Amino acid sequence: MATLIPAPLDIESLRKDFPLLARTVHGRPLVYLDSASSSLQPRPVLAAMEQYYETCHANVHRGVYTTAEEATARYEGARVSVGRFIGAPDPEREIVFVKNATEALNLVARSFGAATLRRGDKVLLTEMEHHANLVPWLMLSDQIGIELRYLAVDADGRLDLSNLDRKLDGVKVVAISAMSNVLGTIPPLQEITDAAHAAGALVVADGAQLVPHMPIDVQALGVDFLAFSAHKMHGPTGIGALWARAELLESMPPFLGGGGMILDVRLDRFVPADPPHRFEAGTPPIAEAVGFAAAVDYLEGLGMARVRAHEEQLTEYAIRAIAERLGGACRVFGPPAGPDRGGVLSLGFRDVHPHDLAQVLDQYGVCVRPGHHCAKPLMRVLGVTATARASIGTYNDERDIDTLIEGLTEAGRLFS
Ligand SMILES: Cc1ncc(COP(=O)(O)O)c(C=O)c1O
Repeated sequence: MATLIPAPLDIESLRKDFPLLARTVHGRPLVYLDSASSSLQPRPVLAAMEQYYETCHANVHRGVYTTAEEATARYEGARVSVGRFIGAPDPEREIVFVKNATEALNLVARSFGAATLRRGDKVLLTEMEHHANLVPWLMLSDQIGIELRYLAVDADGRLDLSNLDRKLDGVKVVAISAMSNVLGTIPPLQEITDAAHAAGALVVADGAQLVPHMPIDVQALGVDFLAFSAHKMHGPTGIGALWARAELLESMPPFLGGGGMILDVRLDRFVPADPPHRFEAGTPPIAEAVGFAAAVDYLEGLGMARVRAHEEQLTEYAIRAIAERLGGACRVFGPPAGPDRGGVLSLGFRDVHPHDLAQVLDQYGVCVRPGHHCAKPLMRVLGVTATARASIGTYNDERDIDTLIEGLTEAGRLFS
């Protein structure tokens, strides 16, 4: 059977949508290779937020006047757009707007975890988790004494699943990154989820890095919770989403208390609202939700299969070009390019400190992030304290990678 290959993205014209890409830094065009940290916003996202503020800003779920009702409709409409983007069967009830992926994961640990787990219950994590999917569970462990187990990362930067069944024995929750922000590793989530469910565990997926770069269908993946942030997918900062099956959200107590999350309040008790509003205390990020919806519309307009094809090809180009032009001087952590790897290139360049590397690259207009990438335990596994991370977004092309390599070559000369 013929495989359908999506038509390639027209990067040249796509780049014109992003005003920040027109900037120069140190007299050179900006080469933005830090989308894993935060991506850039295209004009339709900026315009949607401006149009919202200019035409119908008001608080939501409160006013009965026309603009307040319009604002509420825009906010609730955004919930549906974001839910549809990840294949949520019932977005009105299943998408909770939060501040970011970090808050979504804290919500799961603090509400679902604290309400259902008991002392000695086991939660399975991995060595490659971002602190956002590690610290909330460590906090819960301090609070109620749950036991944390970890899937190891092997020498190729993949998860060691050889003893998955043993690791899953007695586990109640598996909380796992759907794509590593350091290694680019994309674990076989569906396989892990099937095994977890067979062992009686629920699965919390940290989709902060995967959702912006691939077609996602939560029903096909089978996960129980999925956390992600708008700002990593061309949306604004200040908003993210937690998706969970409706019956799970129904069973969970509120996370934060205040206005908007109750059905009734008396001086001695309160009755929480139904999900998702139960988890959205206070005035929510309304303009940000409008921007989030515009961002998923934008990505849908590009086509997520095309986004993935473009980024997979560029990752392959980058890994090959770095090896060919820099040889053994530059190490790219993580698995080889392929279907189980995303466009995150954590670099080690001889013994040059990643901060020095990033500073030299800045002179070339190249934005990369040096540091531990909020994954300190993984840094220890890799035997480093930091890496310089270049990460690929929809708007990057081979010229960006060539400039990165030009800057790395100069760093090699400077620090020889
Ligand atoms: C894998 C992963 N999880 C969670 C987060 C947290 O995202 P945010 O800072 O938007 O809450 C990040 C951010 O870099 C990440 O890479």
